Amino acid sequence: MTYRITVFGTGYLGATHAACMAELGYEVIGVDVDTEKIAMLSAGKVPFYEPDLEPLLAKHVESGRLRFTTSYEEAAEFGDVHFVCVGTPQKKGEYAADLRYVDAVIDNLAPLLRRECLVVGKSTVPVGTAARLAERLAELAPGGDDAAVELAWNPEFLREGYAVQDTLHPDRLVIGVRSERAEKVLRDVYAPLLEAGVPIVVTDFATAELVKVSANAFLATKISFINAMAEVCEATGADVTHLAEALSYDPRIGGRFLQAGLGFGGGCLPKDIRAFMARAGELGADQALTFLREVDAINMRRRARMVDLAREQCDGSFLGKRIAVFGAAFKPNSDDIRDSPALNVAAQIQLQGGEVTVYDPKAMDNARKMFPSLAYADSAVEAAVGAHVVLHLTEWQEFREMEPELLNPVVAERRIVDGRNALDPVKWRQAGWVYRALGRP
Ligand code: UDX
Repeated sequence: MTYRITVFGTGYLGATHAACMAELGYEVIGVDVDTEKIAMLSAGKVPFYEPDLEPLLAKHVESGRLRFTTSYEEAAEFGDVHFVCVGTPQKKGEYAADLRYVDAVIDNLAPLLRRECLVVGKSTVPVGTAARLAERLAELAPGGDDAAVELAWNPEFLREGYAVQDTLHPDRLVIGVRSERAEKVLRDVYAPLLEAGVPIVVTDFATAELVKVSANAFLATKISFINAMAEVCEATGADVTHLAEALSYDPRIGGRFLQAGLGFGGGCLPKDIRAFMARAGELGADQALTFLREVDAINMRRRARMVDLAREQCDGSFLGKRIAVFGAAFKPNSDDIRDSPALNVAAQIQLQGGEVTVYDPKAMDNARKMFPSLAYADSAVEAAVGAHVVLHLTEWQEFREMEPELLNPVVAERRIVDGRNALDPVKWRQAGWVYRALGRP
């Protein structure tokens, strides 16, 4: 049978999932409470920057295969499979995840479900959430004559910047199910991917939930490991980029996620490891995850170290100094500034009296909204006018390929600190710059 699909939540995850499900051939409705967002998406426009997403989404909006609505009634009547893709941000002032949006979807959708269907959670949640939501669903869903309304858990591993590619060609599919029927429905929905050879792990709710957070914990640990090595390199005059290269040839270690620098940010890794620690505490297993506290601490120390390095380049004080910041997004190919290391560093320097001007190829609007007190420029060159030091904090291709000669006539001093170890030191030094980086002599 061919399924009709709904997707609740139209952020990075939901909008991508909806467009990709349409690409797989399904009729899809995307649902959100944000009327502005729904209006934009209905016009084939994506309200954030994600390469490849807009053309895909526009194509399917135009063909009529993909539509968007704010109406839960419409979605409930339409869908055979309802994906829940809303955010689970960090709670204010604590480590735990805020589940109010996930809960709201279930509470609002369940009473409207009058036909057989499967509700599939994709949001990243603390282990135990799926079991609780399944109970809630059973309690609230009226169902029909033979109408089993059931829950499944299917975590999502997509990276921003590669969201479409990661959804259509994932490394693996993970599904947590409690019945053969639920497994069959999800195997059918993902049949095109399974036929293409994507491995699938079928498991219980708790394991499916844990796969996601443990994958993120592992990735965060790998980044903090190499950043801890960078700290030691700094203490001894060694070069962490050579160290990482040498480590990478060991296939047991592998080279990915060994890029030392300013560390991780974004809407996932930082809050997911914190929520994971909080949940382990509730379960009485906090000892198992105390190392994540260290992973988080190493990550935050890199930002402080970056501020120190920048201050050093300003002869010990930011007062009266102009600082150009290249990059505002938490990583390149994204306009997402959630927990952005670059903006965190920019704000710290401003607090310490520096005159900071920020430029980013895509994240300027978001940065302006969140950090209105920082100054912004329309280009890298403009940001660098009169700068005593340039800080390279998000490794956009534009910065990696930049010729230092472009900046030579405008800067006050030729000093650059590479927070991402992504620039070519030889090129910058040859152009007369003092080049400094995290973890390198
Ligand atoms: C991450 C996971 O990769 C993804 O599987 C999960 O679904 C969501 O969280 P994302 O947040 O989009 O994805 O970004 P990712 O590419 O993983 O980068 C995370 C952060 O780590 C960025 O700030 C990046 O700059 C940093 N990073 C990454 C490093 O500092 N060094 C590295 O070697 C790799």
